[in-house]
Amino acid sequence: MKIAVVYTSKYGTTQQYAQWIAKDVGADLLRQDACKVKDLEKYECLVFGGPIHAGGILGIRFLQKNYKKLSDKKIFVFAVGLNIEDPAVQQECREINFVKTIKDLPCYFLRGGYDPSKVTGMDKRLMGIVKKMIAGKGEMTESERELLDAIEQGADYTSYSATYDLVYAIQTLHLETKSW
Ligand SMILES: Cc1cc2nc3c(=O)[nH]c(=O)nc-3n(C[C@H](O)[C@H](O)[C@H](O)COP(=O)(O)O)c2cc1C
Repeated sequence: MKIAVVYTSKYGTTQQYAQWIAKDVGADLLRQDACKVKDLEKYECLVFGGPIHAGGILGIRFLQKNYKKLSDKKIFVFAVGLNIEDPAVQQECREINFVKTIKDLPCYFLRGGYDPSKVTGMDKRLMGIVKKMIAGKGEMTESERELLDAIEQGADYTSYSATYDLVYAIQTLHLETKSW
């Protein structure tokens, strides 16, 4: 079975996950901004990955726009974010990003990282707003405190073992697909 991991990444953590996943399942690794829907025709399984920015998964528009042409393929999505452990946050992210035709696609949530020294421009301003919103709340939950610390000091939660469930799901596709 031919597999492609198609990813978007601004600061490298999603790229790292995409590399780990592609290596483990023997997939081609493609940058989403350099690939056209035609390039994906030859694959039977596609794994899309993107970072979460203000609730939206970067690159998901490509999938939304082209899903009809890709719907004969087995598709997985992974979303990388700093604050995605809580099932309610994951559900909210699904509601924002998985609309209409793609609403039933499986999505795996992987924890990413944040380095304030690398972030500039619009991204920096947006993180400043998030920081103010959390800090202004007064009482914080443990995960909000952790998020605030990550925004101020940076954090790297990327972990190879976080990919195991997704890799297992891809590897066991042959149980349901004769053409493996
Ligand atoms: C402008 C901006 C907005 C972000 N918004 C969110 C968010 O809404 N939820 C979240 O969990 N993480 C958020 N993050 C954290 C990123 O998703 C995280 O740092 C991710 O690992 C970045 O992936 P990349 O290194 O592939 O670009 C945001 C980061 C930036 C810079």
